[in-house]
Amino acid sequence: MANKEEKADEKQSSWKDFIYNPRTGEFIGRTASSWALIFLFYLVFYGFLAGMFTLTMWVMLQTLDEHTPRYRDRVANPGLMIRPKSLDIKYNRSSFSEYKNYVQHLESFLYMYNDTLQEANVPCPDGIYYDQDDVEEKKVCQFKRSVLRQCSGLADTSFGYSEGQPCILVKMNRVIGLRPRGDPHISCTAKRETPLQMQYFPAEGKLDKSYFPYYGKTLHANYVQPVVAVKLLLNEEDYNTELTIECKVEGSDLLNSDDRDKFLGRVIFRVKVSK
Ligand SMILES: *[C@@H]1O[C@H](CO)[C@@H](O)[C@H](O)[C@H]1NC(C)=O
Ligand SMILES: *[C@@H]1O[C@H](CO)[C@@H](O)[C@H](O)[C@H]1NC(C)=O
Repeated sequence: MANKEEKADEKQSSWKDFIYNPRTGEFIGRTASSWALIFLFYLVFYGFLAGMFTLTMWVMLQTLDEHTPRYRDRVANPGLMIRPKSLDIKYNRSSFSEYKNYVQHLESFLYMYNDTLQEANVPCPDGIYYDQDDVEEKKVCQFKRSVLRQCSGLADTSFGYSEGQPCILVKMNRVIGLRPRGDPHISCTAKRETPLQMQYFPAEGKLDKSYFPYYGKTLHANYVQPVVAVKLLLNEEDYNTELTIECKVEGSDLLNSDDRDKFLGRVIFRVKVSK
């Protein structure tokens, strides 16, 4: 018994010695000057690393252009997105609270397209690129929400949601310098046997050339991208069933059928309206 206590005592004193040894003046196995050297070494070492990092970062930033991204491997292949920002649109047309968020979302998205605000922009000639390569101050082509007619939210403030024929806005992501060839337009189909009637605004789902090219956030402030509204003309039989709808950009050189990228030039979403 006494033997055990002695051993425990010995252990404790060697532990204490390890923390601070009064005979050699060592602290955790090293003298103060040894610790100071180690500390100094790491200070210099990390200081050097931080310096290297800052220098390389600075050199790299010198080579970047402020206005255009350097690596644009997909310059001609924008993705599609829809508004309201949901790929699963489900609501009961008799219940305002269920579609309220969709309507609010469309309303806030179209705020930039307000006719009054757009009066300040240029009414560009249709069908040709609005090239401004040599112009310092890039102008913006007008896109008034009123061209979306029944889907503009002006006459029908519920965008067709209350009558069960909802509007979906299809927009193409902005790509700097993109000049789509041909006549790009949005075309949607329901994935089922019988076709679903739809109405497009502007007519034929056209994405007019005058909205291209885009010069980037800093040079081309207040730019508004063209949008196409699709009104789904649902029938009585279409309610309470889930519809899968695919919209694609067609009629141009823009890609729309990449197996790996589901959003490249197309978008697939589901709609279920109940009554
Ligand atoms: C948006 O347009 C409407 C009429 O077109 C106008 O009454 C309203 O004041 C405009 N809102 C803004 C923020 O410009
Ligand atoms: C939709 O809402 C109406 C009114 O509140 C209700 O009578 C109807 O049963 C609802 N439909 C579904 C499928 O929930």
